Amino acid sequence: MTYAIEAEGLVKRYGDKAALDGIDLRVRAGTVLGVLGPNGAGKTTAVRILATLAAPDEGRALVGGFDVTRQAAKVRQLIGLTGQYASVDEKLTGTQNLVMIGRLLGLSRTSAKARAAELLERFSLTEAAAKQAGAYSGGMRRRLDLAVSLVSRPRILFLDEPTTGLDPHARNELWDVVRELVADGVTVLLTTQYLAEADQLADDLLVIDNGRVAASGSPDELKALAGGHRLDLKPLRRDDVEKAAGILGAKPGEDGRLTIPIHDLAVPPAVLRKLDEAGIVLAEHALRLPSLDDVFLTLTGTDKTLMGAGK
Ligand SMILES: Nc1ncnc2c1ncn2[C@@H]1O[C@H](COP(=O)(O)OP(=O)(O)O)[C@@H](O)[C@H]1O
Ligand SMILES: [Mg+2]
Repeated sequence: MTYAIEAEGLVKRYGDKAALDGIDLRVRAGTVLGVLGPNGAGKTTAVRILATLAAPDEGRALVGGFDVTRQAAKVRQLIGLTGQYASVDEKLTGTQNLVMIGRLLGLSRTSAKARAAELLERFSLTEAAAKQAGAYSGGMRRRLDLAVSLVSRPRILFLDEPTTGLDPHARNELWDVVRELVADGVTVLLTTQYLAEADQLADDLLVIDNGRVAASGSPDELKALAGGHRLDLKPLRRDDVEKAAGILGAKPGEDGRLTIPIHDLAVPPAVLRKLDEAGIVLAEHALRLPSLDDVFLTLTGTDKTLMGAGK
């Protein structure tokens, strides 16, 4: 098995706080690793270390077979990085942004222009090529950002929360681009707060929390880890939510929905009888397999409304 990215025991401290507290990870060449975690989990720190922008305090990492600390220049030649915050120059047009990066990478004026045109076409930005990036929509900006990181034809790509803040349409477009890149053999490490995104794109997942690995495996393996079914219930009357929560021993979501894990399929009918006896009428009830949201909740205790936001 060849790994495009391998890291062992990564530690990064800021003062007395460990942003990373011993992270191991591996990404098979030509696959997508989704790194999931709530805000502050250490996702960006991990990406920065792997992309040679920060040095680890402990541990070691190989990217494309090169050591990120001792062979940083080699690593930089292989990788592309799209950071969490848009990095394009707003005063420059789409074409100018791409040509500038091409020139910085040592391409001739003609090659830089040709590469820019090719990328603009690929990202459906040809019509906006002569417009200043400052006038682009959020989705266009992210696509230009991604295009900028692809000028050098990287074989390994780091995407740090590439779709945070995008509307569903723009998010879908970006997912398609990532799928195309993977079809071309590019290895992708993507961080995200959106479980749907991880489920859609990632071959493997790494859930991190407080700088540590909370779980890893394929999306299906992680779902199996959450075990059993889930019963979702929503009382019709808002006033009944607390009462139902008391009976079920569950914490209601913002929308009044209650979810309980089910390990015995005889339980759901019994639950419904109990609620009925208490005079609670349900607007919705559904038995389902665990989602990645449940996995996340089980593993990190993070409220799933936060993780599912904007889905
Ligand atoms: N340059 C820095 N200086 C001090 N603390 C930092 C710095 N960068 C990150 N941290 C802290 O390290 C932790 C992990 O941050 P980060 O990697 O940005 O998390 P994530 O990307 O998962 O939201 C957070 O507690 C954050 O406040
Ligand atoms: Mg981050």
